[in-house]
Amino acid sequence: MTNETQTPAQQSPTDAWRAALASRKTEVANPGAVPATAISPVDHDASRRSFIRASFWGGLGMTLLGSVGLLLDYLYPRNVKGFGGPVAAGKLSEFKKGADPVANIEGQFWLANLDPGESRAGGTGGADGLLALWRKCPHLGCSVPWKSTFDFQGDKGWYRCPCHGSTYTKAGIRVFGPAPRSMDTMKITVDGSGNITVDTGKIAKGGPDNPTRALKV
Ligand code: FES
Repeated sequence: MTNETQTPAQQSPTDAWRAALASRKTEVANPGAVPATAISPVDHDASRRSFIRASFWGGLGMTLLGSVGLLLDYLYPRNVKGFGGPVAAGKLSEFKKGADPVANIEGQFWLANLDPGESRAGGTGGADGLLALWRKCPHLGCSVPWKSTFDFQGDKGWYRCPCHGSTYTKAGIRVFGPAPRSMDTMKITVDGSGNITVDTGKIAKGGPDNPTRALKV
């Protein structure tokens, strides 16, 4: 017989073994008990669904943000070259006062150094200096050529639209045809070295004041 008040040192090896076996039985005697730190399968599934949902919306948001950023980057105007921005139009010395207008293909304009003394019907209307005219006809958009030999009402030298016959003076003033207004003008600058730049992004609607828009040089 063993005494339960005996200390392990006082117990025989057999008694100690029995006591250990009894304590083990006690541990498995309540197999339904769940440790306080255990996670149920339901909680585990819920957290996994939350993670997948957050990943989906996060990914979708990043994709949308990236798309909007790319679109804005594409639309932002920078370093515009050619038509729609500043176009180099040559040296001032290349434009003799009173000479015929010169076509600029890249900028889609005609450039002339107008002589206020050219007082004929198709002349300058008193304009003095550089004038850039958009070649696009204000009627339906045909390209308008300068025709130095075209005779209109006994005078030679006009802009004459090939589509419906709108006719303009050297300063772009409409004198005939269905066009609703005179030829449009573009802003001109000349630097200290005589380099001419026409800003094809700055177009003003043509009007009877076209001659006053010439840049005196
Ligand atoms: S497009 Fe020039 S007159 Fe019609």
